[in-house]
Amino acid sequence: MSYKVGYFVGSLSSTSVNRILSKALINVAPDDLEFTEIPIRQLPLYSPDYDADYPAEGKALKQAIEASDAILFVTPEYNRSIPGALKNAIDWASRPWGQNSFDHMPTAVAGASIGVIGTAVAQQSLRAVMSFCNARQMTAPEAYIHFNPDVYQDDGTITNADTEEFLRGFMAEFREHIERVHTVLPRSS
Ligand code: FNR
Repeated sequence: MSYKVGYFVGSLSSTSVNRILSKALINVAPDDLEFTEIPIRQLPLYSPDYDADYPAEGKALKQAIEASDAILFVTPEYNRSIPGALKNAIDWASRPWGQNSFDHMPTAVAGASIGVIGTAVAQQSLRAVMSFCNARQMTAPEAYIHFNPDVYQDDGTITNADTEEFLRGFMAEFREHIERVHTVLPRSS
């Protein structure tokens, strides 16, 4: 069984270390996971005023999530939480009321920071948001990455064997998590 994984990069930075981390994670993921980035930059700021008639950007976001078997978040920590652009995308996806695109969705989160706590606080914040969105979150292993530029090339190649093994294991566990969720909750339910 293969699975489609939609992924969010929480940073809009042209030099994002989290984008590099996303490439590294995809590089070491099981072959039967197929990845598609779900962009967030183009979204207007969410308002309930849009609920009656979602704009094309909002519809496309929801369709991309709903076409996915699982969602991976790769995000920086901004002021001990997730960046506003990512929260905005989640707010769009969670609405209109009763049409929450994350309902029962298998999810995982990873993040890289130049600081030593490696996005741990942002990830806890995101977990709280995803709990309310009723996602089926992978709770372990956790991936709090203290980004060392010597360990990652821009294309996501990992030059440290221990780091590669850790990230490979993280993605293998994510694949198992996706399968477990879809075994209990087939997509038609
Ligand atoms: C940061 N950074 C940061 N780092 C951290 O460990 N904890 C934090 O709370 C914050 N807060 C924060 C706020 C804002 C507005 C910025 C711009 C940065 C530093 C951050 O980890 C660093 O800039 C990373 O490189 C961001 O990831 P990307 O954008 O390179 O993927």
